[in-house]
Amino acid sequence: MSELIISASILSADMGCLAKESAAVLQAGADSLHIDVMDNHFVPNLTFGPLVCSALRKHLSKTFLDVHLMVNPVDHLINGFAAAGADQISFHPEASTDVVKNLKQIRHLGCKAGLAINPQTSLNCLDNLWEHLDSLLMMSVNPGFAEQHFIPEVLNKISSAKQLISTHKPTIRLGVDGGVKKNNIAQIAKAGADTFILGSGIFNTEDYTVTLSELRSELNL
Ligand code: DX5
Ligand code: ZN
Repeated sequence: MSELIISASILSADMGCLAKESAAVLQAGADSLHIDVMDNHFVPNLTFGPLVCSALRKHLSKTFLDVHLMVNPVDHLINGFAAAGADQISFHPEASTDVVKNLKQIRHLGCKAGLAINPQTSLNCLDNLWEHLDSLLMMSVNPGFAEQHFIPEVLNKISSAKQLISTHKPTIRLGVDGGVKKNNIAQIAKAGADTFILGSGIFNTEDYTVTLSELRSELNL
C-alpha cells in the first residue's frame, strides 16, 4: 500500500497570519499544504493567486505545495502557480477545453499533474487520460467552500477510482477533498484513498498536534 498523506487546506487557516499557521500545521505533523484557488467564476468564491503561493514558498522551502485550481480558464494560472513554486497542480476537467494539453503543460513546467473530480462528474472522463496523470482528487463536497459535510455516496466512487487506478496506473495518488474529519478518515482510507485533504478538520480544532496525531492513529500510522 502506498504511503498515506495528510494535507492541510489553508482555506481554513487564520489568513491574518498565514505563514505562521502554515508552519504550525506542518510542525504539528501535516505532510503537505493544499492551496484552494477559487476565481468567483468556476466556483462562487474568491481566494488565492500565485502571489500567495510564492510568498508561502519563500517561508517553506521544502514543503510540498499542492494547488487545487477551481478556476476557468486554467491555462494562464497553471503557468502562474508553477512559477510560484507549486509542486502539484490539479484542475477540473470541466474548466479546460483541452485536458491533455493542460496536463502536459503542468508536467512540462516540472509539476505533478492532477484532475479534480466533482461529486456529480463521471469517472468516464478519465478514459484515455491515465498516462498523463500523477494524481486524482475526488471531491467529497461541491467545490467552493470549506466546512461542508462529506457526501457519503462519494465513498463508492472512491472505491471505483481506486480500482481504475490499480488497473491503469497504480502509481497515481488518490486524494479526497471536502468534509474529511477524524470520524470518517478511516472509512475513506478503507475505500482506497491514500491522500487526505483537511481544512476545518484541522484548523478549526484547538490543538493541531493533538488533531494530527488522532488522525494518524485513525489511519494506524
Ligand atoms: C473545497 C476545497 C476543500 C476544502 C476543504 O472547495 O477544495 O479543499 O477547503 O475544507 P474542509 O476540510 O473544511 O471541507
Ligand atoms: Zn481543495
